[in-house]
Amino acid sequence: MVRMVTSDRIKMLFDEGSFIEVQAGVESRLLLSKDYNNNGDGVVTGFGEINGRRVFVYCQDFNVYGGSLGEMHGAKIYNIMDLALKSKAPIIGLIDSGGARIQEGVLALHSYGKIFNKNVECSGLIPQISVILGACAGGAVYSPALTDFVFMVDETSQMFITGPKVSQAVSGECIDRESLGGSVLHSTQSGVCHVTAETEQQVFIKVRELISFLPQNSYQKPPKGKVISTLETSETIASSLPGEIHKTYDIKAIIMSLVDDNSFYEIQKAFAKNVVIGFARIEGHVVAIVANQPKIKAGAIDIDAADKIARFVRFCDCFNVPIVTLVDVPGFIPGLQQETLGIIRHGAKILYAYAEATVTKITIIIRKAYGGAYVALNSKSLGADYVMSWPNSEVAVMGVKGLQALKSQKSQSLQCSNVETNSAAAYGMVDEVIEPKQTRQRVYDILLMLENKTEPLKGKKHGNIPL
Ligand code: HXC
Repeated sequence: MVRMVTSDRIKMLFDEGSFIEVQAGVESRLLLSKDYNNNGDGVVTGFGEINGRRVFVYCQDFNVYGGSLGEMHGAKIYNIMDLALKSKAPIIGLIDSGGARIQEGVLALHSYGKIFNKNVECSGLIPQISVILGACAGGAVYSPALTDFVFMVDETSQMFITGPKVSQAVSGECIDRESLGGSVLHSTQSGVCHVTAETEQQVFIKVRELISFLPQNSYQKPPKGKVISTLETSETIASSLPGEIHKTYDIKAIIMSLVDDNSFYEIQKAFAKNVVIGFARIEGHVVAIVANQPKIKAGAIDIDAADKIARFVRFCDCFNVPIVTLVDVPGFIPGLQQETLGIIRHGAKILYAYAEATVTKITIIIRKAYGGAYVALNSKSLGADYVMSWPNSEVAVMGVKGLQALKSQKSQSLQCSNVETNSAAAYGMVDEVIEPKQTRQRVYDILLMLENKTEPLKGKKHGNIPL
């Protein structure tokens, strides 16, 4: 693997000539070794601009003690995080580190503890992004786990609590570093990684793009993108929808015809693919999209999908990104495996996250919304601001199969409780039944209508979301 040097990484991240380095002269108090170029104790910190907006950075240098974090290296990192907080601007960590510096012992651990504390202080106030650029272990993966978005580079980045050598010594498990913590594992199975790229060059392009959707801090709204002069009603939006209710289709085709051209930025693309999440723009206004993906597991909710949605909704609520939820859901996935792993606990996260969110929340019921999953996915009862449905979509306590199973077990007949959304509209659960081609226009109307929405902060320390 060819590593880029820190100066090249910083150059690729920022607008040309905008970077200003801070605390370049800091050195380790313990390791003033003649054999090593101490080089700012192995981390470059500073600030610069991304598309003209201020962003702070720290960039670890693997060539100095494997990028490991000692006392002063850590002090530089939390100093730059502090400056980011005061400036109310995002912080990006370019991480390439073997974790706590063995030679500095508990001083290194103490420094990590202070960084974790600062990560939590920043959480929900400024966006925090971690870009993993090598084999990272210990504290070098715990700090990213506390941040909002983790980027990895294929076959270059790895993340593990303990590296392969220690794993083998302790448990006898012999495994290579890519299998233990590569981008494939973390983007498809663990869910730790939010965005992957094939090369370092591409990862910086993707980070810059993500920044374009985010406000500088929780007091601001996301920046408005290029305004498209005419709002074209999309005639094509319904064409990907099959006639039959149980046939599959690709929700991404619907998302693409709802949002501005090429504006959809998907998050956790390869993890829990039964739901799709990401940022996009509608007439230049940044929105978050949450959608079921009928193509995978019929779009039903399982544990990973619940975690994926809940964390994203909470991020959007922190940073004032309106949430548009596209619902086509048969329910939660039933069965022993999901119950054993705690679908109750994980599914509850979606309920909590939507109910707690005070940002603008819009729902569109595309085809069906059954049972608990209907309630969970930003229903009116949970606090949606505006719920729309396409004609003939169904809202019901459960799907037909579930009802039939219950009927066959009981002597008294159960009445089929499926209702068309016209009835849901009559009960006030749906604000408006719209034609598919009206969707983009109406979402835009509601975004503008709720542009000034604010809700007072709740008078409590914090809630207790199920984790
Ligand atoms: C000091 C370290 C270091 C560390 C690497 N180096 N990690 N020095 N402290 N934590 C040094 C190596 O000694 C070596 O120095 C140089 O960096 C390059 O390392 P290599 O091992 O040769 O590189 P590579 O083969 O690419 O392997 C990278 C690695 C491996 C996978 C990261 O170095 C590794 O497993 N390191 C230890 C990882 C670990 O277990 N960290 C946990 C720390 S505890 P020379 O002089 O030989 O070139 C922790 C807890 C924090 O972080 C608190 C959490 C709550």
